[in-house]
Amino acid sequence: MAIREILEVPNPVLKQVSEPVTTFDDALKTLVEDMFETMYDAPGIGLAAIQVGVPLRVLVIDLQPDDPDAEPEVCNHGGHQHTHQPTKKEPRVFINPVILDPSDDLSVYQEGCLSVPEIYADVERPATCRVRYQDLDGTEHEEALEGLLATCLQHEMDHLEGILFIDHLSRLKRQMALRKLEKLRRAA
Ligand code: NI
Repeated sequence: MAIREILEVPNPVLKQVSEPVTTFDDALKTLVEDMFETMYDAPGIGLAAIQVGVPLRVLVIDLQPDDPDAEPEVCNHGGHQHTHQPTKKEPRVFINPVILDPSDDLSVYQEGCLSVPEIYADVERPATCRVRYQDLDGTEHEEALEGLLATCLQHEMDHLEGILFIDHLSRLKRQMALRKLEKLRRAA
């Protein structure tokens, strides 16, 4: 496994439309492993392959990234001493995902993106949807999504079309965000 470089705006590769995965081989497994390692290291809760420069329709999501420093918690409720493990990882892989039935109902989340570091802004998206996708073996699945998982998946799906969350903002807000990012980079 390896941590890969995360591309940032205004890298033009991020505007590329990603191609469907047709071969479910070891190279795909390695890509997904590297994407998880890169995402956990960043840290972030979602990553599209194009963000590490690979124009394939592959997403990884984990809304519950492990805190590597978390100690198991010792407690003695229930009359005996036992330990609680820290939050478990919930790695999810979506290959060739397609969104179905986006709700008319919208929800707003303050989004961020590893390719637009340090910038956060409210984005409105359908509150629920279904997703059809393939797993690492190429097997097709369908699932109903809501809450943060629905939002995160739609954000990552945008990356496959070359769209960033700041593209959902007004021109003025987008320019302000990019200027702020420039300033932060110069200060760093
Ligand atoms: Ni993103």
